[in-house]
Amino acid sequence: MDGLLSKENLEWKYRVREIAEKFVRPVAAKYDRAQEYPWEIQKALAKEGIFKVWIPKEYGGAGGERILNLCITVEELARTCGGVGVLFAVNALGSFPIILGGTEAQKQKWLPKLAAGETLIAYCLSEKGSGSDAASMRCRARRDGDSFIIDGEKKWTTNGSAANLYTVFAVTDPKSKTRRMSGLLVEKGTPGFTFKKFEDKMGIRCVPVVESHFHACRVPAENLLGGEEGYGFRHAMGTLDQARPGVAAQALGLAQGALDYALVYTSRRKQFGQRVIDFQAVQHMLANMATKIEAARQLVYAAARAADKGLDNLTKLSAMCKLYATDVAMEVTTDAVQLFGGYGYMCDYPIEKYMRDAKITQIYEGTNQVQKIVISRALMKEATILQSMLDPYIPQEKQYVLDEGPVAPEAAAAFNVPAVRE
Ligand code: CAA
Repeated sequence: MDGLLSKENLEWKYRVREIAEKFVRPVAAKYDRAQEYPWEIQKALAKEGIFKVWIPKEYGGAGGERILNLCITVEELARTCGGVGVLFAVNALGSFPIILGGTEAQKQKWLPKLAAGETLIAYCLSEKGSGSDAASMRCRARRDGDSFIIDGEKKWTTNGSAANLYTVFAVTDPKSKTRRMSGLLVEKGTPGFTFKKFEDKMGIRCVPVVESHFHACRVPAENLLGGEEGYGFRHAMGTLDQARPGVAAQALGLAQGALDYALVYTSRRKQFGQRVIDFQAVQHMLANMATKIEAARQLVYAAARAADKGLDNLTKLSAMCKLYATDVAMEVTTDAVQLFGGYGYMCDYPIEKYMRDAKITQIYEGTNQVQKIVISRALMKEATILQSMLDPYIPQEKQYVLDEGPVAPEAAAAFNVPAVRE
């Protein structure tokens, strides 16, 4: 399995695995229970240089296969704690708009600090009334001299309050159909920018998810992403293409982590005079879990490679890996709880947390229903290309209907019948 990764990818993977085992696993349950941001973990990850993985080399990043190494990192972190997986990955989500669409000055100003883990970032797209339908957002930003004034609310800001920088999408031209919104970089502490409603969550409890409120919040015009209005939706969507493999990797890590625990537990637990793992029904469950995880892993890595190579099919692959890996995570973590039996349902055992953490991966960064929209739109484009090639090979029978009035000339020719009924 690991043979499909390069030597560099593997070295990185084992390095992150060591870091995760040292700093994350021992305290994962504690921060989950307390629903508290694990600053000790964030600091350790920053010190180990992990935050530079997705940042281009010229801005202080690691270089190389940035998205593949990001996915490998998230996978290994989530294997020990799904919350820490997203605590890390959400910084990539927040910074992709700068990498994809920022001005040179914005890149120089922010990316090195993000790479060092000194600046943490969050992504503000969703609102109470616009989740899947991101384009229907209401948050406004109006140009006022050399600043923009933001008014509105953002919902589900993951990393909100912990982060010191926010990529905020707002409507700058309500009348425009194609260039309605823009991205703005907003620093924590800017007057008029506050956090409300710290959400109490089922899973990923160590990462804060908050509402971000903007009331006459003035930001300098130089913080307009890319320096030009109207590209917000494109930047937001392009960002999701890059970031969805990261969510898929979080799901993959959760599934693998749950399988790891299930293997150990079923090998230890004895019933009816033998180890639970010695029952064939259990072995078949484990085999199914492992096979699905491996299939998900290959799809995640393929999408990550497509992102690194800038391939045209990224949007589709990115949605596919998010859809598949997160569904696998939900199935595998649920099965792992089952394999733990009654103990699996208990909060002092590690496995129920995996199931709770997995659920959100099917929802955020585009619900899995949205992923199916994205995939099927790509398929419909492919259909038009395939049509001219394959149409001649598919027989097309025509039906002549007697009582339906005069026959159109082209239909008459096709059916070989008179154009005017006799
Ligand atoms: N890359 C670049 N541009 C893109 C694009 C992409 N992947 N997808 C669409 N666009 C462009 C289109 O080309 C189009 O541009 P023009 O107007 O110039 O032609 C424009 O964007 C509009 O595209 P659509 O007509 O496809 O837009 P739509 O309104 O039909 O929406 C959607 C499509 C796929 C449903 C989209 O709204 C979507 O992805 N929704 C889900 C949003 C989402 O994922 N939210 C999660 C928030 S982040 C989060 O969850 C963070 C967290 O907590 C961790």
